[in-house]
Amino acid sequence: VVRLFHPKDLEGKKILVTAGPTREAIDPVRYITNHSSGKMGYAIAEAAEKRGGLVTLISGHTSIFPPFGVDVVKVTSALEMADAVMQNMDDADIIIKVAAVADYRPLEPKSSKIKKDKVNAVSEHSVSETFSAVGQDLTDASSFPDVNSFSANAALTIDLVENPDILKMAGERKTKQFLAGFAAETENLDENALAKIRKKNLDMIVGNIVGVEGSGFESDTNKVKFFFRDGTVEELPLASKKQVAHTLLDRILAKI
Ligand code: CTP
Ligand code: CA
Repeated sequence: VVRLFHPKDLEGKKILVTAGPTREAIDPVRYITNHSSGKMGYAIAEAAEKRGGLVTLISGHTSIFPPFGVDVVKVTSALEMADAVMQNMDDADIIIKVAAVADYRPLEPKSSKIKKDKVNAVSEHSVSETFSAVGQDLTDASSFPDVNSFSANAALTIDLVENPDILKMAGERKTKQFLAGFAAETENLDENALAKIRKKNLDMIVGNIVGVEGSGFESDTNKVKFFFRDGTVEELPLASKKQVAHTLLDRILAKI
């Protein structure tokens, strides 16, 4: 069903949506992130705005334009996203946390670019030994050493530390807000989704199995399953992210 006209059933409601990936700095030119495109969160923000909602979208870096009429707060890291959510959640009626927050960040982001020669200095001896032991003939591609046979000798270790769980923080802080999370899983979707509802004090979780054809991170369509706090479960057919957004808002409205 393509909706041309939207009921203004979210008129006056404040909706907070988080979307996109977070970026966790390794050094000034590199970061750790994930495959989130932001499309699902942006579709929800857009749908809520069209239905009359007052929407704040807290977004990590994405390559898509924010929907018209939506207040956008741009963030980079999980720590920044946590701050923005805490600052914007108290007067929200509905909070939908779609963002793919990086679970870990580098413990000590370097203030200058990590240079290979400095990393390799420690293990230079073993790397050159591997090269000479292989005795490769550079004119014969088949005799090239397997990259894995010497990469271990030039290993770089980055210590990671866990990021705060923003959704769990919101669950602890919330009063009257309806709080929805998302969960991408590769296995045991039902079990993990229900556990996350309890652990994070959520009203619902939208689960999707990563790896289903036409579903997930960069796709325009999504195959999701709704899990509610009261144990109700609803599996939707593969649908556009826009359609999923509207159905999600329909269900949330029925609960509040
Ligand atoms: N989430 C969050 N802050 C984090 C990690 C996750 O707010 N540091 C939120 C996501 O925005 C999402 C939900 O928690 O709405 C579920 O994310 P998911 O990665 O599935 O769950 P985790 O609790 O991180 O567990 P795991 O990755 O181990 O499955
Ligand atoms: Ca996670």
